[in-house]
Amino acid sequence: MRAISVPADIGKKKEVEALFSKAEEAFGRLDFLVLNAARAPFKPWEKLLERDLRQLVETNYLGNVFCMQQALAPLARHGGAVVFLSSLGSRFANPDYPLGTMKAAMETAVKYWAEDFGGRGISVNAVCAGLVKTDSFKTLRLVNPDLDNLPERFFLSPEEVADVVHYLLGPAGQVIRGQTIVADKGASNRLHWSTPPG
Ligand SMILES: NC(=O)c1ccc[n+]([C@@H]2O[C@H](COP(=O)([O-])OP(=O)(O)OC[C@H]3O[C@@H](n4cnc5c(N)ncnc54)[C@H](OP(=O)(O)O)[C@@H]3O)[C@@H](O)[C@H]2O)c1
Repeated sequence: MRAISVPADIGKKKEVEALFSKAEEAFGRLDFLVLNAARAPFKPWEKLLERDLRQLVETNYLGNVFCMQQALAPLARHGGAVVFLSSLGSRFANPDYPLGTMKAAMETAVKYWAEDFGGRGISVNAVCAGLVKTDSFKTLRLVNPDLDNLPERFFLSPEEVADVVHYLLGPAGQVIRGQTIVADKGASNRLHWSTPPG
């Protein structure tokens, strides 16, 4: 397997264009697009500065749209697949997590894109992942200490999330269309986790 690394800010259309040109140059084709990048301030709404809000929208909405626009033609050539990484903030209010609103917008975009691009052989779905102990989780924990009470069994490894993404990039993605699969080890099945499950 061969990989290349191309630094780019997906919130900047020109950088996204250059990123896709370099990928095309290196590999000659595009089969999959995984929309994984995210960056957001973890702050209460009243403290969000204009630059925070712009970053929120530019990276987590516009950036994904710019990538989809660039990927459309090359994916349509062979019938490819797109998977977006969402989070539980799309459906539950979390303290200081404005990113959840962008995730919700993107889950809706996934439905629209599945309809709009499905006729060109492109499947579009999302994975709404539970908690993974990455760099962003370290920051989230600081603003939401309740997360320390979440039993360890609800945390996912990056590989477990990747497995679900891989599933949707395969033939299953041609059957499941415009959907967001929740992959959270059941963490969101209950309202409260203060008492152990029966
Ligand atoms: N961790 C969790 O518990 C969790 C749960 C559910 C869903 N998710 C979602 O899963 C995805 C990955 O999460 P993560 O925890 O691995 O996040 P992370 O540790 O914060 O990493 C985010 C990645 O996105 C890149 N990025 C940020 N802004 C970008 C931009 N404007 N252009 C290009 N790249 C940019 C960062 O690149 P640089 O480091 O180079 O800046 C970094 O590689 C995200 O969409 C996140 O919302 C995470």
